[in-house]
Amino acid sequence: MNVSVIVAADENNGIGNENKLLCHLPADLKYFKQLTTGHYILMGRKTFDSIGKPLKDRISLIITKSNRLIDGCHIFNSIEAGVGYAKKNTEKQLFIIGGDSIFMQSLHIADTVFLTRIHHKFNADVFFPELPAAEWELVNKITHSVDEKNAYPFTFETYKRIEK
Ligand SMILES: NC(=O)c1ccc[n+]([C@@H]2O[C@H](COP(=O)([O-])OP(=O)(O)OC[C@H]3O[C@@H](n4cnc5c(N)ncnc54)[C@H](OP(=O)(O)O)[C@@H]3O)[C@@H](O)[C@H]2O)c1
Repeated sequence: MNVSVIVAADENNGIGNENKLLCHLPADLKYFKQLTTGHYILMGRKTFDSIGKPLKDRISLIITKSNRLIDGCHIFNSIEAGVGYAKKNTEKQLFIIGGDSIFMQSLHIADTVFLTRIHHKFNADVFFPELPAAEWELVNKITHSVDEKNAYPFTFETYKRIEK
């Protein structure tokens, strides 16, 4: 099964502030939906709380240390348990969608990173780790300028792990 990380980060690698995203970019939300629809999305409990509901047409895997039940979601007490559950179904892909703490703990298991680079510097309190050039190759890049719906320029970047 292909394991991907999908993230939107600013020029400082900031990804969020006060448990919210840094900005509203409809084109990025559409891209996120296109890539993840029909697949597993794995996230930390705080990211789930910031979204507030399970995302339609995706299987939500929530990582938490608590025993809370969340309607329409599968709950796991470790990242390994969530990843193991998804990997049993080889017809689907797994997208790790954040936040900070989940990215830090799981980037090493990803084969692909879909990084939307927002060309702006925001106030952020959570960050995405650097992708070392020796480990990750940029294989695709699509740049978008500002338009009437998207207030910041951004680039959809796709990185693949370099096979050793
Ligand atoms: N820009 C982006 O692409 C993007 C994507 C996603 C999120 N974000 C932003 O990131 C921020 C949230 O990130 P965050 O790091 O604060 O929170 P998070 O990673 O979403 O969630 C953290 C929570 O996940 C659970 N958790 C983490 N590791 C665990 C483990 N090994 N075992 C069991 N449970 C574990 C714990 O839940 P319990 O406390 O319930 O035990 C922990 O408090 C928000 O600002 C959000 O908007 C940005």
